[in-house]
Amino acid sequence: MSLRSYKNIKPTISDSCYIDESAVIVGKVECADDVSIWPLVAARGDVNYIKIGARSNIQDGTVLHVTRVSESNPEGFPLIIGEDVTVGHKCMLHGCTLGNRILVGMGAIIMDGAVVQDDVFIGGGSLVPPNKTLESGYLYVGNPVKQVRPLKESESAFLSQSAVNYVKLKNEYLKEVV
Ligand SMILES: CC(C)(COP(=O)(O)OP(=O)(O)OC[C@H]1O[C@@H](n2cnc3c(N)ncnc32)[C@H](O)[C@@H]1OP(=O)(O)O)[C@@H](O)C(=O)NCCC(=O)NCCS
Repeated sequence: MSLRSYKNIKPTISDSCYIDESAVIVGKVECADDVSIWPLVAARGDVNYIKIGARSNIQDGTVLHVTRVSESNPEGFPLIIGEDVTVGHKCMLHGCTLGNRILVGMGAIIMDGAVVQDDVFIGGGSLVPPNKTLESGYLYVGNPVKQVRPLKESESAFLSQSAVNYVKLKNEYLKEVV
């Protein structure tokens, strides 16, 4: 497992997390209970912090990073991911804030200052521009993303189910002995 310190700050990882050996997690990164981090994820909490809420999963090849504080932006842009969030393969989440029960489709890009409210489904390959807010309960797709329609019941249910599936999957991986 590659957990590295930056300026003497080490990632804080709950014991129930699964962190794939090939993932790289640096500095001020906090992973709450049952978080899973899949192969080749890079999470760099150096010039600001990253927080990942309980039961969220960050899938293969995703990049997580942040923006430093400055005079014009005294908080900078940390990266905050809520609970039960599924981040698909090869996404780029940079300095944005995600609520709870969200699916970020594979290959999506979410930029600084964007806010994704609870219970949102973002289609694969979408781009969420800086400072945009995605409203709770909707499907968004496209580059730049547009609100397409309210979520179907099955999609809302899937948001939580996906997190449950990934907690089960990471528990299986934790039992593997190489
Ligand atoms: C957006 C999504 C939820 C499908 O929504 P849907 O309403 O069922 O969409 P449909 O398949 O009926 O397609 C409707 C239209 O949207 C288009 N479309 C579908 N997904 C799209 C996407 N991600 N981006 C842009 N357009 C998309 C379709 O081509 C279709 O266009 P058309 O009407 O011109 O033919 C799905 O395609 C998607 O992106 N899922 C994300 C899956 C994922 O990444 N999971 C994480 C990995 S575990």
